[in-house]
Amino acid sequence: MRLAIVIMAAGKGTRLKSKRAKVLHEIGGKPLLKHVIAAAAQVVPPQDIFAVVGHQAEQVEAAVRDIGVQFVHQTEQLGTGHAIQCAEPATRGYDNVIVLSGDVPLLKAETILALRDFHFAEQAAMTILTAAPENPTGYGRVLRKKPDSAEVTAIVEQKALTPEQAQVREINSGIYAFQRGPLYEHIGELQRNNAQGELYLTDMASLLGKAGAKVVAIEAANAVEVLGANTIAEMMDLDRELRLEAARKLMAQGVTIFRPETVVIDANVEVGADTVIEPFVQLLGTTKIGEDCRVRSYSVIENSTLANKILVRQGCVINDSQIGEGALIGPYAHIRPESEIGDRAHIGNFVETKKIKLGAGSKANHLTYLGDAEIGSGVNVGAGVITCNYDGVNKHKTIIGDGVFVGSDSTLVAPISIGDGSYIAAGSCITENVPAEALALGRARQITKEGWVKERKARKS
Ligand code: UD1
Ligand code: CA
Repeated sequence: MRLAIVIMAAGKGTRLKSKRAKVLHEIGGKPLLKHVIAAAAQVVPPQDIFAVVGHQAEQVEAAVRDIGVQFVHQTEQLGTGHAIQCAEPATRGYDNVIVLSGDVPLLKAETILALRDFHFAEQAAMTILTAAPENPTGYGRVLRKKPDSAEVTAIVEQKALTPEQAQVREINSGIYAFQRGPLYEHIGELQRNNAQGELYLTDMASLLGKAGAKVVAIEAANAVEVLGANTIAEMMDLDRELRLEAARKLMAQGVTIFRPETVVIDANVEVGADTVIEPFVQLLGTTKIGEDCRVRSYSVIENSTLANKILVRQGCVINDSQIGEGALIGPYAHIRPESEIGDRAHIGNFVETKKIKLGAGSKANHLTYLGDAEIGSGVNVGAGVITCNYDGVNKHKTIIGDGVFVGSDSTLVAPISIGDGSYIAAGSCITENVPAEALALGRARQITKEGWVKERKARKS
């Protein structure tokens, strides 16, 4: 029995009022369609998954191409029934087709498997996944032959509900399993005589029923999984579900998260036991944080790796970087891409780093820019030090040896190299290499004119 999964993802998402196609909108840090494909790919191999694309097809395909699924084009979006008509040639050779919606992103693989197993066990022509959410408004309703019967007579869209049908709480999730034969034998009979003037896939329930085929429904164990995302507000509800799920998973692994409803954690983030995450922290992308760390409020960490026992104080921004064990970061530090901060190093307030290596135990505690630099261990970078790495055209490198003391307010004009153990006097502009163990002064001499104020006053009077 060959099984294909078709994902409907061609719609514009008019109700979003957005320029971007609906399935490209992100929740939990990734596009809606990626969530759906990830679940489908746990049920069948990617070459048996067909995404129906249309609106902004190029961008949609680019966003999910890495997974290796197939694409079906629906150039004009004439409804969900039409989307599945477009998938007819691509799905030849399959016996059954599971249909998923690109805008129902919380669906889990286990639920697809439950739908598949029920569909096979019932030997149905069409099996509808349903749910009974608290508020069914907006969804199509599923009319069963009798309340306790698996068999369904019709799906009625919200706009077409009679007052009596509006009492029905069981909704259509937009997720179905079909025997391919009867599906395509009858799909041509769909009519556009409805509120949207579209071909509704939902009408297959009554069509197949009238043709004597078996149409059944199975209720999802968890109604949250089948909630759709037609508006930004609905999408953000789903985003909250995903973030809370990620936070709960980490808490179950020994991570303390204060006020988890305020943190934003992407699904693939890893955090070690006994690490504490304070309110309003964001941990994004492929971020990995070790054990016994503390991330204080308002820090945003993306695609970065933090070892154990690190303190990230309030308001830090850390991107695509690595932080060594026992380091202290912030408050208000900006760790930009390709920064490697060594073990026990300190990066203090208003310090910006970009593409640097900072050795073990080195410190840059205040108001400093370090870019394109290799800095040894045990280095003290004074307040206000700047690596002048850019000459307006090219970037140049600064190399600082072990145990160097860079006095406050010095500018290091790259390319430049400062040898081990040397001292740079405060306020220097260093333009020439400094050998090891030397003292370099690069500043104007101070002139002090004693009695100057008195003389000036005398001149004025
Ligand atoms: C649909 C169902 C409704 C169900 C709800 C569940 C229909 C007519 N109604 O309504 O019964 O309760 O889902 O969430 O199917 N799409 C295409 N091509 C098109 C039209 C839509 O690919 O021509 C895609 C959309 O991108 C979307 C999915 O199909 O991913 C569902 O379409 P949408 O317009 O959101 O349907 P709903 O109004 O939510
Ligand atoms: Ca929808």
